[in-house]
Amino acid sequence: MILCDVTDSVEQDILDSYAPGIIYLDAHPWQLLKNVIAAVLCRDDWLLVIHDCSPILCNPDMTIPKDEPSLITARTGHWERHVLAEVFGLDDPLDPRLNELETETHRLRVFGTQHGLGVVVPKALISA
Ligand SMILES: C[S@@+](CC[C@H](N)C(=O)[O-])C[C@H]1O[C@@H](n2cnc3c(N)ncnc32)[C@H](O)[C@@H]1O
Repeated sequence: MILCDVTDSVEQDILDSYAPGIIYLDAHPWQLLKNVIAAVLCRDDWLLVIHDCSPILCNPDMTIPKDEPSLITARTGHWERHVLAEVFGLDDPLDPRLNELETETHRLRVFGTQHGLGVVVPKALISA
């Protein structure tokens, strides 16, 4: 097991260092979420699974600063849908379209598990 912060080195420490596989992202800092999701969307061979993407955990009016990860709790709300909305081009993190959408290269689906499991899959890996 390697314990480290990859917020500013997702490509270098993960995507360029290992054979493509599945990233399970279960950490809440805004910048970490943003960098991992954005980096994976630039590739066509990595799958990304993100915990805590349920609308129930999403506070559309977050008041905590994006650069203060230690403050994030279920009471404050989670950033996952905020970041997904920003990256996938929707204004409202509670927009239901975020639960199932696609770009030219990727599909996103948020499965209705208790905490909401977001799955980002490159279309190149989906058989017709
Ligand atoms: C919700 S817990 C994950 C629990 C884990 N999935 C499990 O089942 O044991 C989030 C973890 O991410 C870690 N974490 C938060 N920000 C991080 C970062 N920037 N880099 C590495 N780890 C981070 C936290 O310390 C915490 O241990």
